Amino acid sequence: MVHTINAITPLSEAREILAQHFDLKFSKAIERATDKIFERVRHQIPEIEWSYYAPLIFQINKLKAEKDAVILAHNYQTPQIYHGVADVVGDSLQLAIEATKVRQQVIVQCGVHFMAETSKLLNPSKTVLIPDSRAGCSLSESITAEDVMAMRARYPGVPVVTYVNTSAAVKAVTDVCCTSSNALDIVNRVEGDSVIMIPDQYLAQNTAKKTHKKIITWAGACEVHETFTAEDISELRHAYPTAKIIAHPECPPEVIDAVDFAGSTAAMIDWVKSTRPARVVMVTECSMSDNVASETTGVDFLRGCNICPHMKRINLENVLWSLHTMTEEVIVPEELIAPARAAVERMIELSKKGD
Ligand code: 13P
Ligand code: SF4
Repeated sequence: MVHTINAITPLSEAREILAQHFDLKFSKAIERATDKIFERVRHQIPEIEWSYYAPLIFQINKLKAEKDAVILAHNYQTPQIYHGVADVVGDSLQLAIEATKVRQQVIVQCGVHFMAETSKLLNPSKTVLIPDSRAGCSLSESITAEDVMAMRARYPGVPVVTYVNTSAAVKAVTDVCCTSSNALDIVNRVEGDSVIMIPDQYLAQNTAKKTHKKIITWAGACEVHETFTAEDISELRHAYPTAKIIAHPECPPEVIDAVDFAGSTAAMIDWVKSTRPARVVMVTECSMSDNVASETTGVDFLRGCNICPHMKRINLENVLWSLHTMTEEVIVPEELIAPARAAVERMIELSKKGD
């Protein structure tokens, strides 16, 4: 019988299958080869768990070199991926920019599907892998290319600024993309007094507060950030009066109004590293605090986070399997590549202007 690991293989079974192809014992040699990585994450990953992760990390890093692969990981990935196997980490904009620069032939995207598609758009001749193609996004699911065309018909001539958290098909009918770190700049830099900004209603509302332009939006939302409320923030303030509270702009405006800082995942990391508050709550995905805490001493990270189930579909087991079998390959239909890529490239160009 041919064993395979797919999206629904239980972790214990996945490990048994992997053990038929790789040495997954926590030997002295593996301990030595991974001890610098463990140093970085020892406050986030208990020693007993490390003996489980270290052999997987060792094998992934070895296979990466053999297969001429690079791992791009989003800031919401677990510490064992973020610190253990990623070559590049960042927010959506940083990952898109880095994807244009990679020299390796294979890109393994540790993130969600739209991020892997963006890497493919920018590298059509390379092999782009995602360890679990079910890693979706509620924003990406909320809108289709037909929906965008209907909005265009309703608001003729109004430019369409689309959040990168969308499918290639939606990007292909877009004028320019944006991410949470450049949304305001992109909106201000496109022509005209009105902008169709889709599909995140909250990112759009938060941007509308800072621009004189009229923003027409869509009813999409991030399932992780839309659940935070202004009451959550006041409860946090009450419980931890000295803590700084920072949030992602996919949160509703009343949350953003109540926090000390709002920005993309990379902007939040920079803010914590430069401000170094004694205590901080990151109102976003839970791995953020773990990943920044590993790199920042003297800051107490308090919990006020949600887990993104899509981001958490990626784990060390399926990353190793993905590299071993060169699956699941991300394919973007030929006819979508040029128009979708143009929207992403326009964003990269526009976000450089005025830097
Ligand atoms: P960033 O671009 O801020 O990393 O956000 C991506 C994302 O999916 C946040 O939910
Ligand atoms: Fe999508 Fe929200 Fe998950 Fe980001 S956190 S990938 S926006 S569902």
